[in-house]
Amino acid sequence: MITTIEVLRRWSRQQHDVGKRIGLVPTMGALHDGHLSLVNAAQQSCDATLVSIFVNPTQFAPNEDFHRYPRPLENDLRLLQTVGKELPEVFVPNVEEMYPPGFDVTVNVGRISQPFEGRVRPTHFNGVATIVLKLFLASGADVAFFGQKDFQQVCVVRKMVADFNVPIEIVVCPIVREPDGLAMSSRNRYLSAAQRKQAVVLSQSLSIAEAMIVDEKIDDAEVIRRKIRKQIETAPDMRIDYIAIADPETLQELTTIESTKPEIVILIAAQIGTTRLIDNRLIRI
Ligand code: PAF
Repeated sequence: MITTIEVLRRWSRQQHDVGKRIGLVPTMGALHDGHLSLVNAAQQSCDATLVSIFVNPTQFAPNEDFHRYPRPLENDLRLLQTVGKELPEVFVPNVEEMYPPGFDVTVNVGRISQPFEGRVRPTHFNGVATIVLKLFLASGADVAFFGQKDFQQVCVVRKMVADFNVPIEIVVCPIVREPDGLAMSSRNRYLSAAQRKQAVVLSQSLSIAEAMIVDEKIDDAEVIRRKIRKQIETAPDMRIDYIAIADPETLQELTTIESTKPEIVILIAAQIGTTRLIDNRLIRI
């Protein structure tokens, strides 16, 4: 396990010196099968895999769950021993290592960060972009693996990589779901049994919407949004933050489906109790 940037750079140089391609999986820990699928993808296509575990304070607003965010490090390290044949290297810095006293420069993400999550969490993506850029630079990774679950985060990271000419490839892996369809998330562990049962409406509503678009050829985004809302509202404790049907590249909201590119994305976020859940579905038209 590596805890400092200095040692990480040395490790990275050693990998590159022998021609190895480094795959980075940035995480905040509390690993689940979604994360492990990213590690697996990195192991398949890279010669050396690095998993970072860092609960990044700058992407949490003061009213959010930074302090209670789960940090089961021992269990995470144990889980990482179960993926693939080779143990990934793990980078676990502390807050002072990533944000030493006097730290004063942050990445300021523009338009792509503003709708949806950005409206509810206005400082979130600047924090994400800042830590992700630091991890890219410190690790010298050639490829980084992200989950589609955080769809807008992927758009933000791609835009930062393009605008700053960061020499790294971004690979996006499919959402991993529980057997009933709930998208895996470290925050699912906050749910009570009753909330967990209700949480399934999110993926159900996305499947209904997908069938409306693909099978019934309904192209009015408002009609689809209303149906999603109705389905989510069958869960009595779920409060909807947003339901959006958008262009997957620009995140611009759409009023009709047909006037768009070959794919659209439906993004939803809802609050149940004190837990915020997000989900999305990329739909090929
Ligand atoms: O998706 C996450 O877990 C985090 O936002 C990330 C990318 C590790 C940055 O802290």
